[in-house]
Amino acid sequence: MAAGPSATIGRSVIVRVPATSANLGPGFDTLGLALSLYDELHVTATDDADVIVEVHGIGEGEVPTDESNLVVRAIASAFAFYGQPLPGLRLVANNVIPHGRGLGSSGAAIVSGIMAAKGLLAGIVDIDAEALLALATAMEGHPDNVAPALFGGLTIAWVTPEGPQHKKLMVHRGVSPLVFVPEHTMSTSLARSLQPESVPHADAIFNVSRSALLVAALIQSPELLLAATEDKLHQNYRASAMPETNRLVTMLREHGHAAVVSGAGPSILVLSDDPSARLAAADLVAEHAETPWSPLMLAVDFKGATVVPHSVQSPLSS
Ligand code: HSE
Repeated sequence: MAAGPSATIGRSVIVRVPATSANLGPGFDTLGLALSLYDELHVTATDDADVIVEVHGIGEGEVPTDESNLVVRAIASAFAFYGQPLPGLRLVANNVIPHGRGLGSSGAAIVSGIMAAKGLLAGIVDIDAEALLALATAMEGHPDNVAPALFGGLTIAWVTPEGPQHKKLMVHRGVSPLVFVPEHTMSTSLARSLQPESVPHADAIFNVSRSALLVAALIQSPELLLAATEDKLHQNYRASAMPETNRLVTMLREHGHAAVVSGAGPSILVLSDDPSARLAAADLVAEHAETPWSPLMLAVDFKGATVVPHSVQSPLSS
């Protein structure tokens, strides 16, 4: 129970959260993969009422630095859920995950805040994995980015009347992600507005088969990735809003690369079954792209978000 000033005052934590790619082709709002690109956040609980936010890197000079900051709102929501008084907060964010590109930056910000709350409240409130996912999903709206951001690896996420659930799977070591990031952004809400209310039964069956196959391809049989990343539920409906993404995904797939739209786009995720195949994919994009695209050769992150006390540096959670 909360009573008087926050017992967290004076505590300080460091949070690290990976980028994520959701959908992975057929697994709309369900499958997600954690990637080796990390936002880092330092949070200190102070004895005044102030919220001070410093943003370095991506979003510097753009994202709000007051109580409306997404990380601050996530911290506040976790404290409120557990009935804990919110201390003053000093945040320093070092961001590298691109914003508005389909790499889970908003999910990472939310997970950063929830994990910071977990660290600050350690020994006062135990926020377990299920609660972390529930808190993060309540803010994000769907669990497919926040689940891999929290837990790492490949995650299957689903929603029940009791709340969001997840299963984490380890990815075959041959699976090699490559992400292409354009200079332009895409709004997730715009992308979602392009989805129809209902889809043909045959398309639903198509995606059920590919999603099941994709889990097998990612954990056991990477040679099936091209067939397993086919989709009829979202990418075609959204193509008009990101024509170059659509054109490059089609071109890469015609050349045998398992390319998909990353999350709601506009970035492209290629899931290679051989690290060297990524160079060929990068050459193809360099040859066919009409605007600049940055290739990021990444690994799968297997750990997910971490929080450590600032001074001690021993893990509180992972
Ligand atoms: N599954 C989500 C979508 C991911 O594609 O809309 C982006 O938040």
